[in-house]
Amino acid sequence: MLRLTTAGESHGPALVAIVTGLPAGLRLDREAIDRDLARRQQGYGRSPRQSLERDEVEVLAGLRHGATLGSPLALVVRNSDHENWDWGMSPWPPGGEPSGKGTSPVTLPRPGHADLAGALKFGHDDARNTLERASARQTAVHVAAGAVAKALLREIAIEVTGRVLEIGGESSPEDWGSATDDARVDRDTLGGVVQVVADGAPPGLGSYAEKDARLDARLAAALMGIQAVKGVEVGDGLALARLRGSEAHDEIEPDLRRRTNRAGGLEGGVTNGEPVVIRAAMKPLPTLMRPLRSVDLVSGEAGEALVERSDVHAVEALAVVAEAAVAWELARAAREKFGGDALGDFVGAHRAYLERIRWPRG
Ligand SMILES: Cc1cc2nc3c(=O)[nH]c(=O)nc-3n(C[C@H](O)[C@H](O)[C@H](O)COP(=O)(O)O)c2cc1C
Repeated sequence: MLRLTTAGESHGPALVAIVTGLPAGLRLDREAIDRDLARRQQGYGRSPRQSLERDEVEVLAGLRHGATLGSPLALVVRNSDHENWDWGMSPWPPGGEPSGKGTSPVTLPRPGHADLAGALKFGHDDARNTLERASARQTAVHVAAGAVAKALLREIAIEVTGRVLEIGGESSPEDWGSATDDARVDRDTLGGVVQVVADGAPPGLGSYAEKDARLDARLAAALMGIQAVKGVEVGDGLALARLRGSEAHDEIEPDLRRRTNRAGGLEGGVTNGEPVVIRAAMKPLPTLMRPLRSVDLVSGEAGEALVERSDVHAVEALAVVAEAAVAWELARAAREKFGGDALGDFVGAHRAYLERIRWPRG
């Protein structure tokens, strides 16, 4: 079983991921991982933080001379901004006078963030104790793990690609710049829609046997697990509800392929051999430069929410994070189906399976 455990605060020393369940002998390319980390940081809607930090992966364990050992893979992405938060985010009681950022408690929770619920749930009197982990900064290390998953999937000819479909309700890319500029001038934020397509998945990943084995459910959970994602569509999704059955399904041709793909490559929670197509909708980012109304948790008085350097939107970044999440979940499903301790076992089981089902046909 492929498993991922992460740790790390937004302005703490580093983000950490432990990946277990990879086969031995998978070659990883440091530049490919760093390229995905850089893609996550790009985008016209991003804040200056993205240009201050250049994320790079470090590998502490599980890799030797560029190939996995079959032991847990430990990935680290350092927060270079931590030097400005040295006192405020010190893991141990900080010595000396308070200095840098994060020295005073956050008592005005931001609507749309986990600040209020987290402060109440955990008994925090400083909302920073919540927001540091609830922040989407942790998606960096998920992107690093996703790059590893993509390397594994490439061994069985599966390619996963994310792209932006809409920003601020605009679907033509020519309008994205001006939509972003307008929101920036208004000190407001935008949301958007991204789409991830996985090409090359054979029929048979996932299962209809239990609801938590359904790959559509697992992919939806993987995408809903990303901060600010509020809706997921598989294939034509909600639009299918407004069609007749004769218009909604993908007829099967003699080669077992389909001429349409309204199901988004998934039937009964199992891949059907067509590209997996899944979309995620992102709400407008909740930290506004024109802060929303809030209440001070200590004084009980009305006030304005904390303003922390923030993006106008992060839809381009979401496309990269969503790509990583889909790749991760597909890699998990592929490991379940094809198993193997060595990469050759995994690839060999995939090849034998394709021979058994005679895929592709024709
Ligand atoms: C890649 C990415 C970047 C984000 N950047 C910001 C940001 O700069 N400012 C902000 O307020 N929210 C940002 N968010 C969204 C918040 O992290 C998210 O809305 C918040 O944690 C509350 O979670 P929820 O929206 O899922 O309820 C970002 C989300 C993603 C996926």
